[in-house]
Amino acid sequence: GSSAEKSNFFFIFYLFLLLRGFQVYLFGGHVTSWKNDHGEELLFVSSKALFKPPKAIRGGIPICFPQFSNHGPLEQHGFARNRFWSIDTDRPAFPTNSSSKAHIDLILRSSEEDMKIWPHSYEFRLRVALGPGGDLMLTSRIRNTNTDGKPFTFTFAYHTYFSVSDISEVRVEGLETLDYLDNLQNKERFTEQGDAITFETELDKIYLSTPTKIAILDHEKKRTFVIRKDGLPDAVVWNPWDKKAKAMADFGDDEYKHMLCVEAAAIEKPITLKPGEEWRGRQELSAVPSSYCSGQ
Ligand code: BG6
Repeated sequence: GSSAEKSNFFFIFYLFLLLRGFQVYLFGGHVTSWKNDHGEELLFVSSKALFKPPKAIRGGIPICFPQFSNHGPLEQHGFARNRFWSIDTDRPAFPTNSSSKAHIDLILRSSEEDMKIWPHSYEFRLRVALGPGGDLMLTSRIRNTNTDGKPFTFTFAYHTYFSVSDISEVRVEGLETLDYLDNLQNKERFTEQGDAITFETELDKIYLSTPTKIAILDHEKKRTFVIRKDGLPDAVVWNPWDKKAKAMADFGDDEYKHMLCVEAAAIEKPITLKPGEEWRGRQELSAVPSSYCSGQ
């Protein structure tokens, strides 16, 4: 692209407090790092990730909007994850949250170019904030700014890649007995049987109407990630496993062992906004030593 665009590749924000902190790229409005107070990275980013268009960054937290995956006519996961966002200087958009230690506000607006593929005017405001305990909080506010009186409809996901020590030692709790759509079986609907979810092969499922709290237990690391979500009824769980890993150019062959995507999402029931209406979707991530959350 233009030289202005090129200089944007390097427009990264680091917000660090002692060792903890996060990193956000304007490209994609994309969180690429989240560290605990020991300076340990909690998100997975592929060693083969490319940090420039046209492909979204492989890892971190891509934003899927206005379409999740191939559930519609747009490009896979929509276009927000490979557009350049701007810093939002419109303060009142987010009431000051005194409990957050550091935050950044980004905005993506409909462009003329994008209106050719998705003919709607919108403002998408994203706040990324670090809580006092090191939690990472993402809040999205999407507003319909159409002047033609038309509503629009979208699906959404925070496509979070968690870093795990060994996928075969990991379990996900909070999705037991739920209905899901299986992306590997023509999006057919099934019901999850049995206990916590464990991993021994490729998995790509959309759990429907889940509890607001989901936990990823990393036995080897003795760490539990807790995902809390609001306005996002569904949760996608994805690991590509070996074959699909090999087929992805921006993903190492063995990296599937060290990542897991659990994605707070709104997919089964798309969100519709009338002109002037705003939707809010929030996810809060914490990483806690497992000994502190036994019995969860
Ligand atoms: C997941 C989808 O959310 O994202 C998978 O459920 C998809 O089907 C995966 O393969 C990765 O998508 P992409 O476009 O980033 O390669």
